[in-house]
Amino acid sequence: MGIVLAIETSCDETAVAIVNNRKVLGNVVASQIDIHREFGGVVPEVASRHHLESINVCIASVFEQAGFGWDEVEAIAATCAPGLVGALLVGASAAKTLAMLKQKPFIGVHHLEGHIYASYLSQPDLEPPFLCLLVSGGHTSFIEVKSCGEYELLGQTRDDAAGEAFDKVARLLGVGYPGGPVIDRLAKEGNPRAFPLPEGRISLPEGGYHPYDCSFSGLKTAVLYLVQRLEKEGKDIPVNDIAASFQYTVAKALTKRAVRCAGDRQLQTIVVGGGVAANSGLRQTLTAAAQKAGIAVHFPPLKFCTDNAAMIACAAAEHFDRGDRSTLDLPVQSRLPITEVASLYDTAEVLPNL
Ligand code: KG4
Ligand code: ZN
Repeated sequence: MGIVLAIETSCDETAVAIVNNRKVLGNVVASQIDIHREFGGVVPEVASRHHLESINVCIASVFEQAGFGWDEVEAIAATCAPGLVGALLVGASAAKTLAMLKQKPFIGVHHLEGHIYASYLSQPDLEPPFLCLLVSGGHTSFIEVKSCGEYELLGQTRDDAAGEAFDKVARLLGVGYPGGPVIDRLAKEGNPRAFPLPEGRISLPEGGYHPYDCSFSGLKTAVLYLVQRLEKEGKDIPVNDIAASFQYTVAKALTKRAVRCAGDRQLQTIVVGGGVAANSGLRQTLTAAAQKAGIAVHFPPLKFCTDNAAMIACAAAEHFDRGDRSTLDLPVQSRLPITEVASLYDTAEVLPNL
């Protein structure tokens, strides 16, 4: 493997990192949370413009942290899918331009593969196979990780992602943005059993329920109806209890499926990735249930749960080691299933001088 610089701009964080295999040598994240807060969500055009303003500063400061220059860098990587197209374009174009200028290989990275690799940064000895519970603002997936680039999607949400549900419930409770960390904080002061809420289940045509697929839009609506009912009755809204009850329901739904999924597939380890992996309720519930089932669980440190470039660089370093290279005409894509990671690496067409 080698020393890789990676750029991540798929949503609202401008992030640049340098890793040596699974070791972080520099890690810079310029968050746009304060900018998007006034809109209550990420505004794609605004995000792209701010990536453009921050990217050069972030690159300069990651080299300051690393304490060396371009000569040491063996490959340049960027998130190319999935994400906001305008935002992805900024990072991918910067990485490709640098690859051309510095005559280094370019490696496009799948954002979700990055979230899977976040766990390797704190657990460098971790190796597949394992189950990854990937819970972010855009995805909720149960993925069997077989080897680098080889993934099987076993289950997913049929509607809202877990992080999206946290953000929407926070908005309807009027408690702030982004919703996940706010709900997490409020839930600590509330009673998780105050309001029994429905866990979304997916019915199968032959009867029964899908063992791994989940749904969070019904839960969000249940919280809305609860708030409306309490308002109609002229009662104060017990925000902490609602936050705790909601978080408990999400954590339970994810835990149940992840433990069942790992058991069915005889996987000894569950690795959690994505912003919702930072959630204290999920950390507690899943750790306890997995321990009972004799399954090991790894959560990345909080700074590697939400979007960062160290996880992208870590995934890129392993692809680099395997000889995977991306062409400079690799497009950015708003959607790309995790099962299609291989499409990013078109070794037959790598430019001759790279
Ligand atoms: O992985 P991420 O940074 O970006 C995406 O790839 O989507 O995840 C962002 C999501 C947001 O929905 C945010 O509310 C949620 O992760 N999140 C949390 C927590 N911290 C961030 N959700 C629950 N609890 C948290 N502590
Ligand atoms: Zn993400």
